[in-house]
Amino acid sequence: MTMPVSNSDTGSAGVGEHIWRQIIQKHASQPGGLLPALHALQDVLGYLPDWLVAEVAAGFNISRAEVHGVISFYPDFRSKPAARHILRVCRAESCQAVGGDALAEHVRRKLGCDFHGTSSDGSVTLEPVYCLGLCAQSPAVMLDGHPHARINPEELDRLLAEATQGRGTAKQGESL
Ligand code: FES
Repeated sequence: MTMPVSNSDTGSAGVGEHIWRQIIQKHASQPGGLLPALHALQDVLGYLPDWLVAEVAAGFNISRAEVHGVISFYPDFRSKPAARHILRVCRAESCQAVGGDALAEHVRRKLGCDFHGTSSDGSVTLEPVYCLGLCAQSPAVMLDGHPHARINPEELDRLLAEATQGRGTAKQGESL
């Protein structure tokens, strides 16, 4: 379950320091440990704040730029807290071939933000994803951890309305 960071970018905040230090220590001694460490840290903190990048760099004995490079390369990682609802729109080939671009454009306009951003009302974070394993039923999206296939703009509007008006599901592991 994702726990929110409560104290901006200044420290260990809502998650005990020993928890994120343990994660870094555990993975720093393993070959290829950086990616699993970043995933585990995002799982507990909800995002990867700047202060944590410095801690990860120190723990892995690499530069902050290297850690930043990995975070910015993989679309799964976020540097800012996500909204209560997370909408992931598939940007991979199969979905693009059957209306994925139009769907992405529609949702950008509707939410008033680009990918990696949060809607103007602060309720939905929009993220790209590169294949949800639903290629035969494209285009596909994932809303709050739940996949939806053969989605058109009207259907997406309905899903978003249900989620943000309290009839849908919140982030995985949360209840409304
Ligand atoms: S390409 Fe979109 S689900 Fe596979």
